[in-house]
Parts: sequence; structure tokens; C-alpha cells
Amino acid sequence: MNSRAPNKIKFYNLSRQQRLALLRSEAGLTEEDLAALSGEPGLTADQAEHMIENVVGTYSLPVGIVRHFIINGRPVSVPMVVEEPSIVAGASFMAKLAQPTGGFTATTTAPEMIGQIQILDLADPHEAREKLLAEKDALLAQAAEVDPVLKKLGGGPRDLEFRVMEASPIGPFLVAHLIYDVRDAMGANAINTAVERLAPRIEAITGGRVLLRILSNLADRRLARAKVTVRTTDLAFDDFTGETVRDGIIQAWAFAAVDPYRAATHNKGIMNGVDAVVLATGNDWRAIEAGAHAYAARAGRYTSLSTWREDADGNLEGELEMPLAVGIVGGATRVHPGAQAALKLMGVTTSAELAQVIVSVGLAQNLAALRALATEGIQRGHMALHARQVAIAAGAVGDQVEKLAEILAAEKTVRVDRAREIMAEWS
Ligand code: MEV
Repeated sequence: MNSRAPNKIKFYNLSRQQRLALLRSEAGLTEEDLAALSGEPGLTADQAEHMIENVVGTYSLPVGIVRHFIINGRPVSVPMVVEEPSIVAGASFMAKLAQPTGGFTATTTAPEMIGQIQILDLADPHEAREKLLAEKDALLAQAAEVDPVLKKLGGGPRDLEFRVMEASPIGPFLVAHLIYDVRDAMGANAINTAVERLAPRIEAITGGRVLLRILSNLADRRLARAKVTVRTTDLAFDDFTGETVRDGIIQAWAFAAVDPYRAATHNKGIMNGVDAVVLATGNDWRAIEAGAHAYAARAGRYTSLSTWREDADGNLEGELEMPLAVGIVGGATRVHPGAQAALKLMGVTTSAELAQVIVSVGLAQNLAALRALATEGIQRGHMALHARQVAIAAGAVGDQVEKLAEILAAEKTVRVDRAREIMAEWS
């Protein structure tokens, strides 16, 4: 993480070209990196052709840069790919609020994924489990030979666990979990290959029949955690005292802690930040979503992924823990030029560092949403930005966009028909 984000420069007041030029000097980006970040040419149709089937083109989304983040003592500019207004501004603002206390502290566990093997047609699943436990070392040794590159990098199998599913719609069966360290990859390919290779041996040992061989997206051994403290005095704004904002945020969190209806929306706010960076880096956001929500329900009831409390000094303290199976090698991350430039901009060199950035952004995004919800409401900030989208939809271009958006927001009539009326008056 080598990028600097000095507070003096108001990034949002710069032109697009000036923003890119600033990022270039801060993060040592090349012309090619800048072109990739700006989406010109971005992912070409030829590159896309090699990624999925039946390609007819590519699809663009805005890339915005979050400023002001300090993560584990290092300033970092974070690219976000997202269509929703307020997300980039919200994360930037919260990152700034966290600066006086040193920003975000983030950690990760080892990059261990779980591969599942479903073993059916066993007369006695418990006996089969005992047989597999007796052969565990040999099975792990076999798994270690599957990917010599990963082995060289220090990754590979770490453990094998066996779980009897006592009650299922088809009766009892056995499941093997291969715990596999995938280093800097997201790991789906590595783990899926490994479990497919182990399956015949498992059938031979148990006399059963292996059906599914696939990773689990509940990557609960590959966790990322972020912590932040915001001084209560820094939370004050307009007529709201710092204490009112702090307590409101804790009360808003408490709602999500006990109610799945609220927790779903609360966690969606976290994923606004998480997914945007996951997308910017070419990672699999469906896998991250699946893992996050399954993890939120791990105690048997769906709840908040984050926690907020008052610390011993009366300040606001927040924490987010979630599975983050992201990689910096392989897949779309390798193919997509924008993803490569995004990694370079952030200066991340390991999947763990990437996960630390993402979990910090998720926590900041959660704070932005709770702060707004517990005070002035979400619509005020949203409306100003939504007005820009409406202005564009009505045909505004260049300077007209801001001008029209301001009028619509001031009139509190943020509708395309009204925007068209105003445009017609201008022409
Ligand atoms: C909107 O995209 C996200 C929020 O609904 C999150 C939340 O309610 O915490 C504002």
C-alpha cells in the first residue's frame, strides 16, 4: 500500500483528468494503468471473448476512488466499481473521520478454503469416517501433489475433517472437508481440482460413492477483520452532538443485531463497500456475497456482521468480521486490465492485504449508512446525487448536469419529467 491521500487536495473538485494525474504521481501508475482505470480502452471485446461464452461486448460501470483511508498505518486510495450514488462519498467521509485515531486496523486469518466431498451409499457412515481418519495422512499427502506451484509457494492441504450428516432428506451420509491453503489465489480452481483428485481414493477406502466435489463459499477459515475508533467529538455535525450520533449508531446497530429484517439491510450497506472493491479487482462478488450472508447466519439466526460500541474513553468503536475469499492472481483479476491497475493503485501485493482493504471499506460503508440513518436520514444525501442521475437521464450534458441537479434537489422534485421541463426552458 504505497499510495498517499493527502487531505489538502479536494479530490472531488478536480477534473477526471486531474484526478488520474494525481493518482499517477501518488501511486507510480503508468499511462497504461491510467488508461485501464479510466476504462479507455478497459476490457476489450477480445479479452472478454476469452472470459465467458457467447460474448457480444462488454458492460461498463463507474469507477470511483475513495480517498482518506489509512489501513494498518498506510494511506491507500481505493477504487470502487459501483452504480449507486453516495457510496464512494460515504466511504471517503468515514475514512476521514477515522484519521485522527489512526484509521483502520485490519487482520486476516490464513487463506484456507474448504473443499467438500459428499460420500453416499455407505452402510455405516460412522465406520467409513473411522476408515478415512485412519488414512488421513495418506490422503493429505496425495492432495499435496495436486498443485506443485501452490506447494512451492507454501500452500496446499492443511487438514481433512469428516462430518456425518445424520438427518437429511436422503438419510445419513458422510462429508469430507479438505482444508486447503490457496495463498494469493481466490482458490476455487485449486480446491475444486484437489477434491476431484481425492474422490476416487475416498471411494476406494469407504466403498461408498462420491457425488459432489466442490468448494464451500462459507469460507469461515479465511476471515478478515477490521476495527475502527471514531472520536465522539468528530461525530458532531449540524445540530447533532457527538454523543447523540454515537448513541444513535449503537442503537441502529442493536436493531440489526436482534432483527433479521434489519440485519439484511444493514449487511447490504456493508456489502455496498465490499462488493465495489471486489468488483474493481476482478474478484467473484457472488462468492463473497454467499460467504458473507452464510457467515451472518452461522449461529442459527441471521444477524449483523458488524458490531458498534462505546469504548472506555467514550468514543465510538466498530468492528467487522467476515469471510473474504479474494485473490490477486488468476481469473478475471489477471485478465482484466482495470483489475490489475486497481491492485497497483492500492499497492496491495497479497490476497491478505486486499482482504484487509476490503473489510475496512465495508466497515466504513456501514458507519456511513448508520450515521446518516441515525441522524438526518438517508434521503438528503441520496437526493442530491440521485438528482445528477435524473439530470443525465433527461439529457443534460457537461455543466448542465450539476446545474440541473441542483435545481431539482432544491425544488425537491427529482423527476425526469421535471428535469425535461427545465431543459426545455433552457433551450
Ligand atoms: C443502501 O444501499 C444501504 C442502506 O440501506 C444500508 C443500511 O440501511 O444500513 C442505507
